[in-house]
Amino acid sequence: MKKLIVAIDGPVGSGKSTVARRVAELLGYTHLDSGAMYRGVAWKALRDGVPLDSPEQLAALAEAVRIDLVPLDGKLRVILDGEDITDSIRTPEVSHAASVVAVVPGVRHPMVAEQRRAGAQGGIVMEGRDIGSVVFPHADLKIFLEASPEVRAERRLLELKEKGEPLAFDQVLADVHQRDRRDREREMSPLVRAADAVVVDNTAMDAEETARVIVMCAREKAEKLVTGNS
Ligand code: DC
Repeated sequence: MKKLIVAIDGPVGSGKSTVARRVAELLGYTHLDSGAMYRGVAWKALRDGVPLDSPEQLAALAEAVRIDLVPLDGKLRVILDGEDITDSIRTPEVSHAASVVAVVPGVRHPMVAEQRRAGAQGGIVMEGRDIGSVVFPHADLKIFLEASPEVRAERRLLELKEKGEPLAFDQVLADVHQRDRRDREREMSPLVRAADAVVVDNTAMDAEETARVIVMCAREKAEKLVTGNS
């Protein structure tokens, strides 16, 4: 059966990473978390003291850096220039810096080129904000994951609690709204639902159920491609 390109886009807290990982596992595909690449660039900028307000220096850094996403025990390790930085890129500081570097065109171009190379042969589940709209506008299957802001904030709250960083619900909800606004209103590759994307609202579904719905869509799509009935 044809190996598809599956694009999963959606806002913060929509469960993209967990769902994309599980979909890839069920289909036997590669999982690529594009957000981890922007986080890698941000991490290196912070470590090397590259000013976040210098698009030229950030672009040079993004051109020169090598980021590998290597699966290990069902999760992706993020290897930057040979160094495993997986456990350092989910801090609030890196999250903020990632949202800054991700709007720089000179950073996006090399990242998108790398994402296209990684997915060119199909058999990939790629997640992010612009996968179905910019990176793979001809992806075989595009999913736009949604959930209510309150449920997304609840998920984020739980994640932070597990990391030993408890915050108040209202604060997390305000942050979700703010990140939504930033992702949707930015000029460069904003978070948009591609016209041909399937919307999956998982407000009332857990990650496993969501992944199985997407796998069903993927299998149906792959069959249609075989019978020429797409
Ligand atoms: O999904 P995430 O929170 O790990 O993403 C980190 C940052 O990168 C976030 O600010 C959104 C941005 N991003 C992006 O602009 N384009 C993508 N394809 C993926 C993430």
